[in-house]
Amino acid sequence: MAEEHETAHDAIAVVDFGGQYAHLIATKVRRLHVLAEIRQPEDPIEAFRKYKGIILSGSPALSSQGEDSDYTKEIYDLEVPIVGFCFGHQEIAKHYGGQVVHGGREWGPASLHLVRDHPLFAGLGKVERVWMSHFDSVVSVGPGFEELGYTMLGEGGAGHRFAAIGSDTHRRYGVQFHPEVDDTEHGDEMIANFVLRICGCRPSWTMERYLEEQVERVRRQVGDHSVFLLASGGVDSTVAAKLFAMAVGADRLHLLHVDNGLMRKDESRKVVEMLRALGLGRHAHFVDASDDFLRALAGVVAPERKRAIIGETFIEVFEREARRLGIEDHLLGQGTIYPDTIETGGTKRADTIKTHHNRVPIVEEMIAAGKVVEPLAELYKVEVRELGEQLGLPRELLWRHPFPGPGLGVRLLCSDGIEDREGFGEIEPAAARVAEQYGLAALPLPIRSVGVKADLRSYEHPVLLHGDAGWERVLEAAGMIFRHVPGINRCIWNLGPRLPREARPVQAGVTRERLDLLREADAIVMDGLRRSGTYDQIWQCPTVLVPLALDGQGCELVVVRPIHSERAMTATPARLPEALLDEWRESILALPGVAGLAIDVSTKPPATIEWE
Ligand code: XMP
Repeated sequence: MAEEHETAHDAIAVVDFGGQYAHLIATKVRRLHVLAEIRQPEDPIEAFRKYKGIILSGSPALSSQGEDSDYTKEIYDLEVPIVGFCFGHQEIAKHYGGQVVHGGREWGPASLHLVRDHPLFAGLGKVERVWMSHFDSVVSVGPGFEELGYTMLGEGGAGHRFAAIGSDTHRRYGVQFHPEVDDTEHGDEMIANFVLRICGCRPSWTMERYLEEQVERVRRQVGDHSVFLLASGGVDSTVAAKLFAMAVGADRLHLLHVDNGLMRKDESRKVVEMLRALGLGRHAHFVDASDDFLRALAGVVAPERKRAIIGETFIEVFEREARRLGIEDHLLGQGTIYPDTIETGGTKRADTIKTHHNRVPIVEEMIAAGKVVEPLAELYKVEVRELGEQLGLPRELLWRHPFPGPGLGVRLLCSDGIEDREGFGEIEPAAARVAEQYGLAALPLPIRSVGVKADLRSYEHPVLLHGDAGWERVLEAAGMIFRHVPGINRCIWNLGPRLPREARPVQAGVTRERLDLLREADAIVMDGLRRSGTYDQIWQCPTVLVPLALDGQGCELVVVRPIHSERAMTATPARLPEALLDEWRESILALPGVAGLAIDVSTKPPATIEWE
């Protein structure tokens, strides 16, 4: 987690019980210009004393069963207001003598009927559209508490009491729904009412102030030393570079761009040019370390192993270059952002979905020794982009698609050539049955990719779907497969002319030849997105090579993964123009060794954006 630091701002703690949206709550509070920090439920009570209010998030745990009830309950002794959403709402009800039962579940939209005027709902209508997702329900409240609202499912539909509760004496409030999601129509106003009216926070946290504070903080941390930053050319490290230049001066900032052999076509050359053009080039160093990376990755198949090797090799190269260039007494600068930490299992409840390159063990050791400086570690991508604007960086750069630190290394699947058909006895007929209902055929693939299910890492099989069902139906079919077929975390849609009868893994590692092929396919995809005007409409579009022969032909299946996302924590597949897909069919299927082409139609969860 980000290091502790004093703040001059009124701040809100968001207690992360492991639900999907704790980060979203924090972002929404910060949009009100009030600092919000994510805290863990078992953080010591001292950590909570500096806040002017506390928000308890949702959780996959069941409050009715007493799950996850072991947290710092002393927060309830603090005098500041507390509000709970979903699980947090139930915990507050329970703590003050109310009752929570397993039942009364609601999913999706509901109408909240407000019983009386209350500051929490100031400025809102008598009936509000809210978003629900719960198994458990509050069925009674304790002394001093009252019902502020109930829900009705449709006109005259079944009622659900205690959807909003509160006690002005205790200054404790709870809502069963999720005000933080965009589908709760006036959720932002409810959060604003809590933060600004009820807690009385002064809105002083702006990007300008954040920038000033980070500049100060970097100056303090760096002292008389210098910063040596690994600059990939991506949004995060470039914004970090600009901030460091402002904080310690360009003379004490060294940038190192490493060609790890896993970059896109011509990327390294462009990055070095870009850094110079931004005036960051006084000490911009470049090293071609592709041999080191490829040697270290030779023969490695397991995704987490590949990630670890890439992260470690970065540090080896970094230290070697620092010695060679005579840069002593430096701190390692990184453009780490909040999701990098969360996905690496950086909090107690968060599972390691993927180890991000800037969070491998050796970096963690350096962090513990105070050798790393990361001014963006609390931000999400949208906030980094906003900060970049503040720093005057060009728009085209800030709105580039994210590109992962381990680069094409996590988009080049490897295999020892052995078929992995675990569970296929059940998977094959089940997938075929579901697909058939949508007029599709299904071929489960005997390899695996990484995904995330119920906030846990998964490593399961993809299914190749084939047929002319149309985009919407294919997405529905994928959703049904995820729901009903165990062992599947990804669905892809065949763009080839027919469904192959069989897919066999081909022995393949990280090699220059394969990377060159992936670079070609990726360049075709990126060029097509830009020419068709689609690039700016989507969040990201990885191209992936999967070492499979289809019906004995070729040795690589190319998969394109266009997605929409807000913060990369969740994602939905993006529909692309037919003409673009036709173009890719022609050009990508003609590349040497390519056995097939498919489009990834999986949401995140259960798939992740990248395949490894
Ligand atoms: P996933 O695949 O976990 O990715 O859904 C979420 C977002 O993070 C990017 N990503 C990374 N970025 N270092 C990075 O800097 C990494 O190791 C890394 N792994 C994934 C990914 O491209 C997506 O935007």
